[in-house]
Amino acid sequence: MRRVASAAVPDACSTRPRYRHRRSERTRGVSSRSLSSDRDDLVAQCTECALPNERARADAIARALDLRRDGYARCLIVGAETGALALRIASEDAACTALCVDASAAQLARCAETLGKTLALDAGEDVLGNARGVRFLRCDDMRALKPYHGPFDGVAFNAHLADRGGEDEARDAVTRAVLLCKPGARVVISERERGVGEGTGDGGMDFASIVRGLPLARVGGAKELGEASAPMRADDDENPLVFVVPSAFEIAKPFVLEAPVVTGFGRGSKQMGVPTANLDPELCGGEAFLSSLPLGVYFGWAKLAMESSWHECVLNVGKRPTFVDGDGATIEVHVMGASDAAKLYERDFYGETMRVEVRGFIRPEMRFESLPELVTRIRADIGLARNALASGAHARPSA
Ligand SMILES: Cc1cc2nc3c(=O)[nH]c(=O)nc-3n(C[C@H](O)[C@H](O)[C@H](O)COP(=O)(O)O)c2cc1C
Repeated sequence: MRRVASAAVPDACSTRPRYRHRRSERTRGVSSRSLSSDRDDLVAQCTECALPNERARADAIARALDLRRDGYARCLIVGAETGALALRIASEDAACTALCVDASAAQLARCAETLGKTLALDAGEDVLGNARGVRFLRCDDMRALKPYHGPFDGVAFNAHLADRGGEDEARDAVTRAVLLCKPGARVVISERERGVGEGTGDGGMDFASIVRGLPLARVGGAKELGEASAPMRADDDENPLVFVVPSAFEIAKPFVLEAPVVTGFGRGSKQMGVPTANLDPELCGGEAFLSSLPLGVYFGWAKLAMESSWHECVLNVGKRPTFVDGDGATIEVHVMGASDAAKLYERDFYGETMRVEVRGFIRPEMRFESLPELVTRIRADIGLARNALASGAHARPSA
């Protein structure tokens, strides 16, 4: 792994200072964690020259977050950087509270200094609460963030994702951010450097593949990035990428899955308390069809061929990355506890044909740290599915 040599820091910051330092840090495959101590040195040396440019970038991010649209707002800043963004949000958006997270304690301390605060992270800084202002949390990655830190009205990735070490890590970070957002929240991605690939040949990060399949709608971004075929880059200081988390999880084209129920791994009811019926993936269009779907959690209506009435259901089309027992896609349907279904669904019904009318998407599939975390999230999915189906927008199919 290549480390950043201090000799790589230019002496003079007068020529494109904001870009010069960052470029020396960027090396494909180097994770943000391995960069932190080098980066702390760089930031310390670059404070004076970076701040004016950072203010302009911070203004653009704050405008894109549009936090004041509902009066009071809570936002998440991922990447403390120089503190310019936290300062902008704290001072100009007085109705906001922000949680600023970073892997580097020194970065956070520097950000706090910009805000005129001193940080005692080791003394257990309070990261919860509704008081106005900025709170700080040192964490190595987004997995440390819990639902009670949010829900957020806006998330800003502040010159952070291109340092994550690869597309998978960046996608995981954005996915986790989306899960912490309220419907209608904005997700803003801003990378600091234009021409990120100069000298490294990596051509910069294309965010199109990172956000593909996530429940996010694009609402803005650099003008030259507008064409669908162009790579979606986020390194225009004035025009960050802006997405919105939809308030309803519609899918463009509802679809039907119909297949016999086959045996699964038996964890659903025994270990998780969430019984599922596994549909034979081969008879649901096979790998070709399943790979055309975003893997994740959907909701809709389900019934066995022998039944006359439909039941609310939530289903996972995915590869169960939390477990290590195979990576083929499966379709697991949890039929929600309608009282008339309870008796029928208590027994095994392998071989019976189940039909599922899929109406909406809830979230992408993810790897959870533990079984209880997965079960907690599935319970939240069930709640979201119930609300969506009760809204009347997804009428029960006729028998
Ligand atoms: C609504 C729902 C959401 C799920 N989400 C995930 C997920 O995000 N990640 C994951 O690894 N597995 C997820 N699963 C799959 C579970 O891991 C799976 O149901 C469990 O392994 C039980 O499988 P079994 O009944 O075949 O043993 C989800 C299942 C359901 C029903």
